[in-house]
Amino acid sequence: MNTNHPNIAIVGATGAVGQTLISLLDERDFPVNDVALLASSRSAGRKQVVRGKERQVEDLEGFNFANTDLAFFSAGGSVSERHARRAAAQGALVIDNTNAFRMDDDVPLVVPQVNAEVVRQRPDSGIISNPNCSTIPLVRLLRPLHDHTPISSVVVSTYQAASGAGLSGIDELRKSADRVLSDQTSADTDNVKFSDPLGFNLIPNIDRPLDTGFTLEEQKMLQESRKIMGLPDFALTATCVRVPVINAHSETAYIRFETPVGREQVVSLLRSLEDILVYDDGPGKVTYPTPRFLSDPNQVHVGRIRINPDDPCGLWLWLIADNIRIGAALNAIQIAEAVTNMQVQ
Ligand SMILES: NC(=O)c1ccc[n+]([C@@H]2O[C@H](COP(=O)([O-])OP(=O)(O)OC[C@H]3O[C@@H](n4cnc5c(N)ncnc54)[C@H](OP(=O)(O)O)[C@@H]3O)[C@@H](O)[C@H]2O)c1
Repeated sequence: MNTNHPNIAIVGATGAVGQTLISLLDERDFPVNDVALLASSRSAGRKQVVRGKERQVEDLEGFNFANTDLAFFSAGGSVSERHARRAAAQGALVIDNTNAFRMDDDVPLVVPQVNAEVVRQRPDSGIISNPNCSTIPLVRLLRPLHDHTPISSVVVSTYQAASGAGLSGIDELRKSADRVLSDQTSADTDNVKFSDPLGFNLIPNIDRPLDTGFTLEEQKMLQESRKIMGLPDFALTATCVRVPVINAHSETAYIRFETPVGREQVVSLLRSLEDILVYDDGPGKVTYPTPRFLSDPNQVHVGRIRINPDDPCGLWLWLIADNIRIGAALNAIQIAEAVTNMQVQ
């Protein structure tokens, strides 16, 4: 692989994650040689300026990855299942944003701030997976907290934005909210992305249901956290809820440590971490970010840090991260930066 100026392919280039990947190439001054924009035949021929040069979206179906060094896949799990192994076999290093390979043994699951070392060498599969958008910001806090004081269990609830279901998810929220605001009493009939109308509503059902009574989204948070942190018995349980927010996922986490922790210690530990913005005005103050007004979409925002007065081992916190950036495109670019810096061939 040309690690200095790689040839890049962006699969799903017209989507929410693909468009953000394109912006991030500029924002982070990511060194590139050529950039191929790929999507379905629906968008083939669309033009877009990327890194100062006009490029045309091509149909993924006929694309050959032989001259591609890095291929970012963000076009849904079934597209990755059909094309990612082919791209890797043709020579590209694939960074996959979908759920297709995350738990495969031959595919590293990477959050660079936590486990960049697992991609020191090209994986045999030629594929690196990007974790779920709620898991990434959470493990960026859990790993250093666990290293400081071992964690015995975590209970998480998520409040996940419409954009987690892509551009059409945002559109569906807007239409659903419009129906409520214009006093249309009949139920929405055009839900596609969400199981229920999302306008002015909450939906505790993300991804498909499992026999356990949990949803796949909730199971992903457990399994992926264990794999990323290399802790196969890590105890975490989640309830994942879709909320009528356009962008940025919020989470509450109740983290139980094996021994008591000090609130100030936790605040200063979190403040010392890269790209974590802590909101804290001291004990007894209620300080927090909100998803609609995030100051910096490239940081994980953390507030409401407090110890359970009835349990000195129990810590609550509130966190928010831009799901399209931190939860997908930015994490993928940071994986690419890690592999190019480590000269992974
Ligand atoms: N949104 C998030 O917060 C987030 C976070 C983490 C992971 N992800 C994952 O990233 C992937 C993309 O998400 P998104 O939010 O960007 O979705 P999106 O806005 O709906 O975009 C989907 C993209 O996939 C392309 N596509 C669809 N079917 C295709 C096909 N058969 N062949 C080639 N390209 C095809 C679309 O191209 P056309 O324009 O041609 O339709 C579009 O570029 C999903 O797997 C999602 O689970 C998303």
